[in-house]
Amino acid sequence: MPPIAVRTSGVRPVTEQRTSAQGTTGGRATVARVYDFLLGGEQNFAADREAARQLLQAVPEAADMALSARLFLRRAVQTLAEDGIKQFLDLGSGIPTQGNVHEIAQAVDPAIRVVYVDIDPVAVVASNQILIGNPTCRAIEGDFTRPDLILDALAGSHLSTVIDLEQPTAVLYCSVLQQVADDQVDDVVAPIRDLLVPGSAMVISHLSATITDSFGQSALDEGRSVYRTQAATEITLRTDEQLTALFGDLALIEPGLVPLNHWRPELSEPDPYATAPTPSPVRGAVGIRY
Ligand SMILES: C[S@@+](CC[C@H](N)C(=O)[O-])C[C@H]1O[C@@H](n2cnc3c(N)ncnc32)[C@H](O)[C@@H]1O
Repeated sequence: MPPIAVRTSGVRPVTEQRTSAQGTTGGRATVARVYDFLLGGEQNFAADREAARQLLQAVPEAADMALSARLFLRRAVQTLAEDGIKQFLDLGSGIPTQGNVHEIAQAVDPAIRVVYVDIDPVAVVASNQILIGNPTCRAIEGDFTRPDLILDALAGSHLSTVIDLEQPTAVLYCSVLQQVADDQVDDVVAPIRDLLVPGSAMVISHLSATITDSFGQSALDEGRSVYRTQAATEITLRTDEQLTALFGDLALIEPGLVPLNHWRPELSEPDPYATAPTPSPVRGAVGIRY
């Protein structure tokens, strides 16, 4: 796989674009753009960079965690594409970086189709830029906490030729469900998960409740406070039991739910946690409906 690089070819820096993002967020940081900054991207504003700076001060591992999460996503997509899945639904897809879902999947099979969904207009604009000339992929603005609306959109004429949920589909929730409260998360995941036909898959990566083993409670509290105050986002940690439950009756493929750097590490460049004293505080797994 190519390394994750600082600049995504084909995407102009956000300062050169006219987007509605500043208007819709009132100039606040957003999770998508902070994450883009952590990955070395250019689709971010001053508020995002300031939030990222505060985050890195509280949790210096934050950039490694983001890179590790992207590498896991790429390994999971490659695995599922090689297993023959032809359509991917990436919910909370983020701002494109190197090695996006369609690039990894289409390197296996150029006919693979991808729908990207994100709530952040900057992510959607940037995704559509890199999808120009790629007729089997689309990016739309949408809220994955409203699976009813996601399903309506998939059934609409714009997307119905891209994803047909009657066919095996891979649904990705990568580094997104930690932004959903405990009393909502089942209602967010179950409606789409339970529609998946045999041969389908679901991928989850998620901050683990064991995170304080890596960097302590006060760093965690500060990091969460940055997201709360700068990006109006609450971060919820989950135990292995809670994360496994999100897969419902899907069967986890080897090696199960593990720190991201333990999930088939041989399939990508080395994870930043490969040589760290503690494993990644982010867990990931891939579930299949048989
Ligand atoms: C930490 S980033 C992860 C991006 C990507 N999935 C990855 O693994 O690299 C979280 C993404 O979820 C998006 N997001 C947050 N809440 C959302 C929602 N309710 N609906 C759609 N996207 C959402 C954010 O805009 C952001 O792009």
